[in-house]
Formats: sequence, C-alpha cells, structure tokens
Amino acid sequence: MTQDEMKKASAEAALDYVEAGMIVGIGTGSTANHFIDLLAKVKGKIDATVASSVASEERLKSHGIPVLDLNTAGQLSLYVDGADESTKHLHLIKGGGGALTREKIVAGASEKFVCIADDSKLVDVLGEFPLPIEVIPMAQSLVARQITALGGKPILRQGFTTDNGNIIIDVHNLEIINPVEIEQKINQWAGVVTVGIFACRPADVLILGSSTGITTY
Ligand code: 5RP
Repeated sequence: MTQDEMKKASAEAALDYVEAGMIVGIGTGSTANHFIDLLAKVKGKIDATVASSVASEERLKSHGIPVLDLNTAGQLSLYVDGADESTKHLHLIKGGGGALTREKIVAGASEKFVCIADDSKLVDVLGEFPLPIEVIPMAQSLVARQITALGGKPILRQGFTTDNGNIIIDVHNLEIINPVEIEQKINQWAGVVTVGIFACRPADVLILGSSTGITTY
C-alpha cells in the first residue's frame, strides 16, 4: 500500500463521523483532499461545509458541495483535517501546506476534530517536521531572533504567501517536549499570527492508515 493509499483509507474511515444535516469543517492538504472527494459521494447527507483554505474551498465547489463562511455557519459539529505530525496525545504539528491559521480557527469552532493521516505522521515527540509559524511580514526578523533564542533554526518559506497575506517561517531543530507551553509562548510573540502547534486545542480523534489497516486513537 502506498502512503497515498493509506491517507485515502484514513479519509474513508473519517466518513463514519459524518452525520445527516451536519455542517462539516474541512481541512487542507492531500489527505483532506481525499476526504473532500469521498464526501462528494455522500454530499446529499450534509447541509454544507466550511473550508480552511481557498484551495479546499475550490475543490469542494468543484464537486458541487456547498461552502459557507464560518461567521454564517456558527458552531460546527465536526472538523476533518490532516497533520504533519501527531503524538498519541493527539498534539499536532500542522501548516505544511501553509493553511494553519484558518485550520486553527475552524478547529476551534468545531465540537469534534477528527485528524486523518498515514502512520508515518505518528511521532513520540513533535518537532522533527519543521514547525510552521505564520508571521506578519514586518515582524520577520524579530520573530526569527526569538526562534533562535528558543533553540530553533528559522527558515523563511521562499515564494510563499498565506491566504491571509502573510509569510511562513519554518522552525527546524526544535524538539517540542511541552507542546502546550511552547504553543502558548510562541503565540504571545508580537507579529506571530499563528503557530502550527495544535495542543491547546488538540485533535479529539486520530485515524491512522497503515499497510495493516486503520488504527484509531
Ligand atoms: C496544511 C496542513 C496539512 O494538514 C498537513 O500539511 C498534512 O498534509 P498532507 O495531508 O498533504 O500530508 O496542515 O496546512
């Protein structure tokens, strides 16, 4: 089984959480794309979706799935999204695709966050995957200095602008032993829009696809 097939299998298992009449929050990335394509086959069951990126919104609309603005939708029952890393505590690193801010907003507005991934994403300690931080452009060097002081290596994501018009700094070489503490700390730096640690609001369910089947945490 390829990594992509494992991603698709996890997306398929997440369909079990979709109930009639729901407005479903939709993540971003290749695993979320599988979920969108599978959701299209049962689109009559749900009322609408809320997208966490322009790319996901376009994919949903291409399937004829209704997409609402979050302020119109209000509280969501379910959010389904991928991750770059997850621990068994369901603390995540997200933002490999650069959509972390809207992803964190939609996750925060949802009662249940179901994270879907292939099993290569499961780690003991977060941080081998470079931690994305969305930053207001004028704060780039200020935030970079603070990252260095914390022990990480800041690298600007070249040629990338977020859906919100900001830059992404990817932090290499940072072992995140206390994800809640580090998330809160980085969130407080001036110029930081969002840090890609999802620990204060972790996933509620983690569905991992592997060559031997599905494991749910
Ligand atoms: C996008 C994300 C994605 O969920 C994450 O990058 C995983 O992507 P993929 O499903 O393609 O492996 O956080 O901002």
